[in-house]
Amino acid sequence: ACGSSGGQSGGSADDGKITMGFAQVGAESGWRTANTKSIQEAAAAAGIDLKFSDAQQKQENQIKAIRSYIQQKVDVIAFSPVVETGWDTVLLEAKRANIPVILTDRSIDSDDTSLYKTFLGSDFVEEGRKAGDWLVANTQGETNVVELQGTTGAAPAIDRKKGFEEKIAARPDIKIVATQTGDFTRSGGKQVMEAFLKSTPDIDVVYAHNDDMGLGAIEAIKAAGKVPGQDIRIITVDAVKDGMQALANGEINFIVECNPLLGGQLMDLAKKIVAGEEVPPRVVTEETTFTSEQAKAALPERKY
Ligand code: AHR
Repeated sequence: ACGSSGGQSGGSADDGKITMGFAQVGAESGWRTANTKSIQEAAAAAGIDLKFSDAQQKQENQIKAIRSYIQQKVDVIAFSPVVETGWDTVLLEAKRANIPVILTDRSIDSDDTSLYKTFLGSDFVEEGRKAGDWLVANTQGETNVVELQGTTGAAPAIDRKKGFEEKIAARPDIKIVATQTGDFTRSGGKQVMEAFLKSTPDIDVVYAHNDDMGLGAIEAIKAAGKVPGQDIRIITVDAVKDGMQALANGEINFIVECNPLLGGQLMDLAKKIVAGEEVPPRVVTEETTFTSEQAKAALPERKY
């Protein structure tokens, strides 16, 4: 369908095939790799022609990719916004070109909800709450937490912090003594944890906004001669295979799941939207949590 003009959405269905332009955040984490694979496989299975770009965690690259999809007159644009703000101009361009937009995984901060048709993804505040609930139930007395935040300005970083803080607020003995971004990467988590271990005495708990940063923190903790999971307990979000393995080994203590397998639902939504059907404005992903025992049981079946 791509390349033609007119019709309800960007390109009319001349060859019957839907063309989707997908602007991915990057390849910063195991979660992202699984998410990309899910989208590529689901597009192929649904017979959707996928144009895919990797923004290397830079908003300007994502904006460029979206503009190029508009120029190419794709039928639908989907993207996972690297940060929450600054999207109105380019999304208005898509709207004026009659190309529907689907937010995938991460949402945007805009008053104009007409800029996108739906938002498919997790409830990140709820994920932060689950992490906070576990800590509140599993610690007594003075507890010093260091927080490894996701990418500055990204919805999952903002919301996971918010949900966690909400739950520990009732416990003045639990304190976040240091917090910094590790950009959702393993190397970022390691570097920031190395600095925390030097600057911050008596760290009891690491709260990492994703598995990769938690895995980086494990390396830093070991290098400092401490035992991850025992001397310093670790809570993470995602539940990718490497994280689940560390949880099963007792080096991570608790993981809140964030499901990257959004491809199938995304293609279903795209087909409906291009066909002019109504879709719900918000589709929330179902997720669980894992203790070490639960990770051991789940690992053999884990797909990513
Ligand atoms: O937006 C989802 C988050 O992005 C994942 O939790 C993290 O691993 C990824 O980089």
